[in-house]
Amino acid sequence: MPSFLLLPFKLIFVLLFSSHILSSSSSINSTEAEALLKWKASLHNDTQTFLSSLWVGSNHCNWVRIGCDSTGSVTNITLRNYESRVRGTLDNLNFLSFPNLIYLRLVGDALYGPIPSSIGNLSKLNYLDLAYNNFSGNIPSELCLLKSLSFFSLGFNSISGSIPREIGRLSSVSIILFMSNNLTGPIPTQISNLSKLQYLDLNQNDLTGTIPVSIVGLQNLSQLDLGGNRLNGSIPKEVGMLRSLYLLDFSGNSLTGSIPASIGNLSNLVYLYFYSNYLSGSIPSEIGLLKSISALDFAGNNFSGAIPISIGNLTRLERLFLSENSLSGHIPQTYCNFTYFQLSNNHLTGPLPDNLCLGGVLFRLGVVNNSLTGPIPSSLRDCKSLIRVRLEGNHFTGNISEAFGIYPNSDRIGLSDNNFFGELSPKWGLCPNLTSLRISNNNISG
Ligand SMILES: *[C@@H]1O[C@H](CO)[C@@H](O)[C@H](O)[C@H]1NC(C)=O
Ligand SMILES: *[C@@H]1O[C@H](CO)[C@@H](O)[C@H](O)[C@H]1NC(C)=O
Ligand SMILES: *[C@@H]1O[C@H](CO)[C@@H](O)[C@H](O)[C@H]1NC(C)=O
Ligand SMILES: *[C@@H]1O[C@H](CO)[C@@H](O)[C@H](O)[C@H]1NC(C)=O
Ligand SMILES: *[C@@H]1O[C@H](CO)[C@@H](O)[C@H](O)[C@H]1NC(C)=O
Ligand SMILES: *[C@@H]1O[C@H](CO)[C@@H](O)[C@H](O)[C@H]1NC(C)=O
Ligand SMILES: *[C@@H]1O[C@H](CO)[C@@H](O)[C@H](O)[C@H]1NC(C)=O
Ligand SMILES: *[C@@H]1O[C@H](CO)[C@@H](O)[C@H](O)[C@H]1NC(C)=O
Ligand SMILES: *[C@@H]1O[C@H](CO)[C@@H](O)[C@H](O)[C@H]1NC(C)=O
Ligand SMILES: *[C@@H]1O[C@H](CO)[C@@H](O)[C@H](O)[C@H]1NC(C)=O
Ligand SMILES: *[C@@H]1O[C@H](CO)[C@@H](O)[C@H](O)[C@H]1NC(C)=O
Ligand SMILES: *[C@@H]1O[C@H](CO)[C@@H](O)[C@H](O)[C@H]1NC(C)=O
Repeated sequence: MPSFLLLPFKLIFVLLFSSHILSSSSSINSTEAEALLKWKASLHNDTQTFLSSLWVGSNHCNWVRIGCDSTGSVTNITLRNYESRVRGTLDNLNFLSFPNLIYLRLVGDALYGPIPSSIGNLSKLNYLDLAYNNFSGNIPSELCLLKSLSFFSLGFNSISGSIPREIGRLSSVSIILFMSNNLTGPIPTQISNLSKLQYLDLNQNDLTGTIPVSIVGLQNLSQLDLGGNRLNGSIPKEVGMLRSLYLLDFSGNSLTGSIPASIGNLSNLVYLYFYSNYLSGSIPSEIGLLKSISALDFAGNNFSGAIPISIGNLTRLERLFLSENSLSGHIPQTYCNFTYFQLSNNHLTGPLPDNLCLGGVLFRLGVVNNSLTGPIPSSLRDCKSLIRVRLEGNHFTGNISEAFGIYPNSDRIGLSDNNFFGELSPKWGLCPNLTSLRISNNNISG
């Protein structure tokens, strides 16, 4: 074959090849770009200008935080926490145009109006985050068709209505964050179907009814936050079977009854919050089995009886809140690394534990209005970390100038209504941040 014939062939080949490249790049699905631009045009004017600065050029796959797969189809749509918060609704965002969407994150914007049920048609959606906007209306039950969804957050909006019973169909979900909305009605028992669930946060809603016993099905749960609702009834003993739990928060509800002894099975628990309920009975001694616990808050209930001695076994306990209950008896010998030790407004007797500030990290000590007696333990004398000391309304005794050291970080010291004596020493003046020193109703002079 004459060589001059080869050239055109090569040329034709090159032309064919490059035209293939061209056609593949021009095959970027313009339906998706048009859908995004149509949405942009529906937003508030200031927002449109802002979005135009992010979404630059003809290829939407190159726009800031829009991601595409290798065929040029949109997989990611993200707008989050920009200073110019994107303001508008989702009414004009046609989700049916994005069959390959995997991540949808519209977080910390100023979006409002209803959550479109058509999001439920995004069969590949894995990550849905609409938190920190002002969406209202109900959670569309169609969203429960999202079989691939693993992360589902609607937190910090104004969403009302009940949690759809269909939620049990979200077979891939591992994180559900619906906190700080206006959700009402019960926690659906079907939620127990979500065997992959690791984190359930329904804090700060208006949920009613009881904590479903079926929650025992959530064997992989590590964080369960139902605080700040209107749940009533008692704490099901089945909670003790959720052995992966690391955080358990039932605070701020209307729970009654006592703490089930099964709670002692939660050996991975680090945070336990039952404060502000109507729980009663004594605190079970099994609490001493929570060997990982760091923060325990049972304040504002009707607990009675003594603080279990087993609490002294909790070597990681740093924050203890038992104020506003009806606890009596002596304070058991406790561990020494407390940062918060709050037992005010109970009926406790006897002395303070010796080693409260041995760890040297105690910030706040509050035992107001009990019937505690005896001198102030020596570990408190030079507890430089103290920020607030509230001992009012007890029967403590001792010479005020010997019992207390200098607390350079303290802003409030309350010693009123005790049996302290001695002379008020000028050293209190060395506490530069001290704004309140209460000493009335003692035998203090000077
Ligand atoms: C945007 O501004 C135009 C005039 O500049 C006005 O007619 C229109 O109503 C505004 N649209 C929105 C959504 O604010
Ligand atoms: C899509 O979002 C995920 C999660 O934020 C991220 O890891 C990934 O890199 C993004 N892909 C594109 C193409 O933007
Ligand atoms: C573009 O995507 C839409 C759906 O989003 C689809 O109906 C249409 O066939 C696609 N067009 C091309 C050229 O791929
Ligand atoms: C979207 O999902 C609904 C069910 O929620 C279904 O009836 C409808 O046909 C779907 N639309 C498309 C275009 O897939
Ligand atoms: C959020 O939406 C609710 C209900 O639509 C409305 O009453 C409220 O004013 C909105 N809040 C803000 C900050 O836009
Ligand atoms: C429980 O999950 C299975 C499989 O994921 C699903 O078929 C079933 O409908 C779910 N049941 C409920 C009550 O949601
Ligand atoms: C949602 O709850 C908040 C606080 O509980 C309340 O101030 C607000 O009015 C409620 N919004 C709606 C739409 O119910
Ligand atoms: C439980 O969670 C762990 C991660 O903490 C994960 O590796 C495991 O697959 C989960 N089990 C189920 C049944 O989802
Ligand atoms: C919970 O409260 C509802 C009404 O708000 C009441 O009907 C129900 O009996 C209460 N349940 C328990 C166990 O106290
Ligand atoms: C503290 O723990 C030890 C060892 O686990 C155990 O023998 C003891 O009974 C516990 N003390 C209390 C008061 O629970
Ligand atoms: C107190 O906590 C510190 C820091 O976590 C640790 O190093 C120390 O061993 C603890 N003290 C005791 C007595 O456990
Ligand atoms: C006093 O208070 C100020 C402001 O609250 C704080 O920044 C400062 O660290 C405090 N000083 C001491 C010695 O704690």
